Amino acid sequence: MYCLFCSKPKIEKNARDFTGKVVLVTGSSSGIGEGIVKLFSALGANVVVTGRKADRVNRVAQEAQQLSPKKLKPLAIVADVTKNGDLNNLLNQTIKTFGKLDVLVNSAGLGIFSPVKDPNFMKVFDTLIKVNLRAYLKLTHLAVPYLEATNGTIISISAVMGMVPMKYSTAYAISKAGGDIMTRTLALELGPRIRVNAINPGVTATNFDQNSGLDEKTVDMFRQQILKRIPMGRIGQPLDVANAAAFLASKDAQYITGANLVVDGGMFWLTKILFIKTDRNVFMNARNGRDFTGKVVLVTGSSSGIGEGIVKLFSALGANVVITGRKADRVNRVAQEAQQLSPKKLQLLWPM
Ligand SMILES: NC(=O)c1ccc[n+]([C@@H]2O[C@H](COP(=O)([O-])OP(=O)(O)OC[C@H]3O[C@@H](n4cnc5c(N)ncnc54)[C@H](OP(=O)(O)O)[C@@H]3O)[C@@H](O)[C@H]2O)c1
Repeated sequence: MYCLFCSKPKIEKNARDFTGKVVLVTGSSSGIGEGIVKLFSALGANVVVTGRKADRVNRVAQEAQQLSPKKLKPLAIVADVTKNGDLNNLLNQTIKTFGKLDVLVNSAGLGIFSPVKDPNFMKVFDTLIKVNLRAYLKLTHLAVPYLEATNGTIISISAVMGMVPMKYSTAYAISKAGGDIMTRTLALELGPRIRVNAINPGVTATNFDQNSGLDEKTVDMFRQQILKRIPMGRIGQPLDVANAAAFLASKDAQYITGANLVVDGGMFWLTKILFIKTDRNVFMNARNGRDFTGKVVLVTGSSSGIGEGIVKLFSALGANVVITGRKADRVNRVAQEAQQLSPKKLQLLWPM
């Protein structure tokens, strides 16, 4: 049985020695995942390299083997994380080859930046959710029994953009914020046997931007702008994120679970300050702008509860309101009460 008070940390002199550990890193054929898989190989682990493109997977596997102190051969598997069959195969091959799993790193991902008005916006959203969120959860779901057996750990590569808003990043940010709450809920559910953490990188030099559909000029401009806001004075490198992953997987982090480790050279806090300034303006406008005369406000779920309260307030502030819900008697009642609150007793559209 696990004792809440008996288990005490010890000084670990070789916390970064991963000899005998098995580490699977998705998206390890490029960028951050490549940096992570190579570092774990250099620190003695048996590693699994994976991605969709065989040539890249094989190249990274060979380079990782060269870095391994005992020249351990990585398992190289071509897999598309949006396919359930590929994820099953990835895990089955890992267990068949190495007999266990100690560390799962979810890193396969992509960023597409699209305004909400773009006709393809929902297509972009579905793709990002599939790769950046569903695949993380599905592989985690498959891996949990194996990680329980080894007191293993899960690390998901998230993004600063999942924590602070940036224009045109709605779909991407939702996929990353979803992963962050997944990390926190699973930390509660899977402790004490499995630790679950996230790393939130800032701008990192990888193929990410090129794969995002942005042209090179825009990417360059974006990086120059961002660079000015990074206190550490440089763009992040995959090894910066990999060092954080090695720390979170190590015994030095044995009391850390459900955490977001931000690795961004300090950019996050500057972004936050900019955001807080904007936020204050929004509140100033809200205070001066409570006259909604001439505005039309539609509130779904307004036949009861919170929606009812909202629609009544807008009616009281002069707006034309639309009340809706599944039950006609409730919709009518709220409509009549909202009309009573309206300064000009704005007419009911329905019932006529
Ligand atoms: N670079 C940044 O500035 C930055 C910042 C914050 C967070 N991140 C996050 O870091 C993670 C890694 O991105 P990166 O910067 O390393 O980008 P990258 O260099 O483009 O690498 C992305 C990796 O994901 C793999 N991948 C993409 N779609 C996949 C799919 N459907 N199935 C299997 N593998 C797939 C790619 O392999 P194939 O294309 O060969 O399949 C590649 O190995 C992502 O989750 C990203 O959101 C990056």
